[in-house]
Amino acid sequence: MITINENYLKLQASYLFSDIARRVERFQQKNPEINVIKLGIGDVTKGLPPAAIRAFHKAVDEMAADETFHGYGPEQGYQFLREAIAQNDFQKRGANITADEIFISDGAKCDSGNIQELFARDIIVAIPDPVYPVYLDTNVMAGRTGIFEDGRYGKIVYLDSTKENNFVPSPPKEAVDLIYLCFPNNPTGSTITSKGLQQWVNFAKENKAVILFDAAYEGFINDSTLPHSIFEIEGAREVAIEFRSFSKTAGFTGTRCAFTVVPKECMAWDRTGNSHFLHSLWNRRQGTKFNGVSYPVQRAAEAIYSEEGQAQCRELVAFYRKNAKAILAVMQELGFSCFGGINAPYIWIDGKMDSWDFFDLLLNKAGVVCTPGAGFGRCGKGYIRISSFNSHENIEEAMQRIKKALG
Ligand code: MLT
Repeated sequence: MITINENYLKLQASYLFSDIARRVERFQQKNPEINVIKLGIGDVTKGLPPAAIRAFHKAVDEMAADETFHGYGPEQGYQFLREAIAQNDFQKRGANITADEIFISDGAKCDSGNIQELFARDIIVAIPDPVYPVYLDTNVMAGRTGIFEDGRYGKIVYLDSTKENNFVPSPPKEAVDLIYLCFPNNPTGSTITSKGLQQWVNFAKENKAVILFDAAYEGFINDSTLPHSIFEIEGAREVAIEFRSFSKTAGFTGTRCAFTVVPKECMAWDRTGNSHFLHSLWNRRQGTKFNGVSYPVQRAAEAIYSEEGQAQCRELVAFYRKNAKAILAVMQELGFSCFGGINAPYIWIDGKMDSWDFFDLLLNKAGVVCTPGAGFGRCGKGYIRISSFNSHENIEEAMQRIKKALG
């Protein structure tokens, strides 16, 4: 008799954003006349930067002729893209990362979900609360947690991110082995200073732990004093892995391209105390389970690093930032405490009521979709997240409707 991985039975019924999509679909079936405005999942709405589109087209044409056709690409991604990333995203900011430490992939979601395969099942995992659900769910699937009780899984060390600590948790009192951090943060929009991040790096070194740093939203950092990468922090190369994505900064949510940085010094140990480089293990894992991102997509991503591409990405970010400002203004005018939205595309709002009730209220009374904070963890209860990814017109319309419904 075939049996299942029973860890899956510990998971909540469905993935947060699938659950929301189903609720919205049900609402839309009952109310077909309402033009629902979606400010839930952070999905971009603007077309790709023209520089990326041009490179994309050219690469597609290359695929048509035998002489310029590309089959399987190099496992880690094409050198042209990895070089552009190393220089522009890291070396220019003083972070010593080289092209051979970069692994191109089809998404930070997959990478941040898959990376835990490299670690033993009985390690202690520290995860912020609230949190992007992928980190937690993938550790549940792998059997690193107990059952779900009172809003939390057993065996996980939760790092509470609350108003009191500005949604930036400090290292825990107890030793942990694997630490997930995301800045600018999804869902709270909070940011971390270099000093704050240095504390985490020091903690990881003292505990022989590894930090998984999700920097998918770094393009939204407005404050020039904030670090964009954990590798701008001294000592991070030995203890950190970073995830980046072209989804939000270059509009690639549907195009799919991201990368993971695993420095050559970063290591973990086996049971007998021998050290192993995570770079080799991740390379081994990807070589077996992943066949790369298509050549045209990697060429489109490379084009983002041209002067023209960089300017177009800045324009994209500025476009969504304007939306964030408009959302913040209205929600504050309505008397809500709001966080994020300055160095991040998400606005985290203290709704002063159950977050699913607030979700239903906005959907039913305003035809606007948000994300209930409780879906990101126990500390998210009472909050909602509004995404700034949409057109200016839709944001304006959504805010008018919210004002009318709640004002
Ligand atoms: C979100 O809305 O939290 C993100 O868009 C989800 C994702 O990037 O997978």
